[in-house]
Amino acid sequence: MYICFSIQSNRMKSKIEIQPIEKSKINSVDFDNLPFGSVYSDHMLECDYINGEWKTPVIKPYSPISLDPAAKIFHYGQSIFEGMKAYKDTHGNSLLFRPLENWKRLNKSAERLVIPHIPEEIFMDGLKKLLEIDTNWIPTNEGSSLYIRPFMFASGIGFHASPADAYKFIICTAPSGAYFGGEVKVLIEEKYARAANGGVGFAKAGGNYAAQFYPTQLAIEKGYNQVIWTDDNSHEYIEEAGAMNIFVRINDTLITSPTNDRILDGITRKSIIQIAKDMNIDVEIRKISVSEVIAAAQNGSLKEMFGAGTAAVISPISGFGYQETEYDIPALKTPFAEILKKTITDIQTNKAKDPYGWRVMV
Ligand code: PLP
Ligand code: COI
Repeated sequence: MYICFSIQSNRMKSKIEIQPIEKSKINSVDFDNLPFGSVYSDHMLECDYINGEWKTPVIKPYSPISLDPAAKIFHYGQSIFEGMKAYKDTHGNSLLFRPLENWKRLNKSAERLVIPHIPEEIFMDGLKKLLEIDTNWIPTNEGSSLYIRPFMFASGIGFHASPADAYKFIICTAPSGAYFGGEVKVLIEEKYARAANGGVGFAKAGGNYAAQFYPTQLAIEKGYNQVIWTDDNSHEYIEEAGAMNIFVRINDTLITSPTNDRILDGITRKSIIQIAKDMNIDVEIRKISVSEVIAAAQNGSLKEMFGAGTAAVISPISGFGYQETEYDIPALKTPFAEILKKTITDIQTNKAKDPYGWRVMV
């Protein structure tokens, strides 16, 4: 076991009300065959923002919530979320990965959607308490983890198209297996865009994902798993792959697009960049044109493409489509994707030293 960092802070601890479940449903869960994100743990955290302040968070049995039909979430889509994971090491410790980055990004998203900031103590203390209570829900099987979904939305009512006056912050958790079942094939998008300059692409706003569903459905009908989003203006530069940031390896250089208004500043992405640089892999953060990727695929210098994100971890892409043509990316013996995935998951699960201080013990 290696050392885990705990978050040092002078802040006050949050008061949390706890309403435990009467009977756990954990025995009904097959931890050897976990789907992604569709089995939920016993408890959830719920906190209301009313009259200009966050009330005491409550940890209670996982259950449906009741909302007024005029709640602005339904009409104007004021809704943001985060995606995180908790892991168990072989000593039974519960671990988080860079959780303050998620808290900061949630508040960045909140600002853009005019949702009030969530204080660090509610987010962090609430999350840790929830994980303590549902500690048995953190899977121990290789490749499984507890997927954590913190989210905030407008519960305040009114048909006036303006920000709501009340919000809910909720954290639910789901013991989960892999996000993708098999190989990932992607279609490079030529027409639709998930985000535009000046828009909300950099935020983790629910609406960004709703906007992706239709073009993704068209891609799935053609036999792909995901869309590679290109810039909204020219569709000449590749930006993201569905719910992942994208990396391209040309010869031995790993290239990823710089983040901008349209791209989520992924925590996996920035961790991978750091790890790769420290392994002396040549990393370039620059625009990648579709024509460069096609040329590389044609002349054999396109060695790898992979998506990176919390849910998907690192997902190698086996081929892509563009303008009705299919391009294969032949598998390598020891791809960067495999080395980087092992390195990051070993850090996350306490199988390796964490020189960065990313791992946080619950
Ligand atoms: N890009 C999009 C659009 C995403 O939804 C995600 C998933 O969170 C990512 C990238 C990867 O971000 P992270 O590594 O922080 O999970
Ligand atoms: C994550 O990777 O955590 C995400 O939020 C992606 C999600 C849309 C499944």
